Amino acid sequence: MGKLLKVTLIGILLAFIGERIVQFCHRANAFRKVDPVDLLPNCQLLKGIEFGSEDIEILPNGLAFISSGLKYPGVMNFQPDKPGEIFLLDLNDEKLRPVPLRLSRGFDFSTFNPHGMSTYIDPKDDTVYLFVVNHPLYKTTIELFKFEEEENVLLHLKTIKHDLMWSANDIVAVGPESFYTTNDLYFTDFTMRQLEIFLGIAWSNVIYYSPTEVKQVSSGYYYANGIAMSTDNKYIYVADIMGHTIDILEKQADWSLTPVKVLKLDTLLDNLFVDPNTGDIWTGAHPNGWKLFSYNSDDLPGSEVIRVQNIHSDNPIVTQVYVNNGSVIQASSSAAVYEGKLLIGTVFHKALCCELS
Ligand SMILES: *[C@@H]1O[C@H](CO)[C@@H](O)[C@H](O)[C@H]1NC(C)=O
Repeated sequence: MGKLLKVTLIGILLAFIGERIVQFCHRANAFRKVDPVDLLPNCQLLKGIEFGSEDIEILPNGLAFISSGLKYPGVMNFQPDKPGEIFLLDLNDEKLRPVPLRLSRGFDFSTFNPHGMSTYIDPKDDTVYLFVVNHPLYKTTIELFKFEEEENVLLHLKTIKHDLMWSANDIVAVGPESFYTTNDLYFTDFTMRQLEIFLGIAWSNVIYYSPTEVKQVSSGYYYANGIAMSTDNKYIYVADIMGHTIDILEKQADWSLTPVKVLKLDTLLDNLFVDPNTGDIWTGAHPNGWKLFSYNSDDLPGSEVIRVQNIHSDNPIVTQVYVNNGSVIQASSSAAVYEGKLLIGTVFHKALCCELS
């Protein structure tokens, strides 16, 4: 090979890597600094939650489910040897005491690794179903439970697996046995997955599942994360954590999704929660993805709670409701509201409850 050609090829390669580094830093918001937004003195940490509160689901009666103990490649975990748990928190009780829910037999607790969750209340008999994305040994299953409120038990109904759901992240139930789920990345292997994040390949997608049909219904995300449904059940919202967007999609009669619009934000959006009273979208976000993926106790990953009002209008209102540099709460991944209370969950840290005035 001629010398000039070699020099040219090396030059092109370096330019490509350089461009990818710049793009990656942009997607990870690696240089972003945020000013604190406090809700003090109206916040308190929830007792007993120390190892994550990744996703939060609140029932209309104020009972909240909190998934805890997520083990996820490339992300911190302070208690890697203990299986994950689901806590129940009664937001009507001033004491705010989360209790771990008992899980009925039927699947392997020792590898329980809960991630995104969604509830479905059967309109026929008010049965509460809880869908949980689980990563036993870093694989993906969906565990379906029935909530037995009297006994504080999650009765395991079934484990759902499908080849299209190779690496699910979050879930939104649309029936007692059907749901949409985000599939975060193509590769499940750790090194390949890092490479995929670094290169910024938009291979992540949304899958529709029912017992009779499973299909991809949306694609082209860098890293599809939170998923939720509008209060009128017509739209699905998807958070692209590395793309910094909320994508609005319209549900069709055959359950396919058609893009409506995309809202661009300046943060790494994680789980989404829709306020059942106002339709506002709440999210726990990562102000700086670099600090999340390369944990350093001297330079902690912070937390950022965002509220989006009127997302369907031409001028949605985006508010930073709470921002902390990690001194109180690290790596926020969810935010949910009930009767003036804001619950903030994290990937691997504590959980915070604040009064909104
Ligand atoms: C984080 O915020 C707290 C309170 O606002 C402040 O006291 C502390 O110095 C900040 N830490 C860093 C590393 O910026």
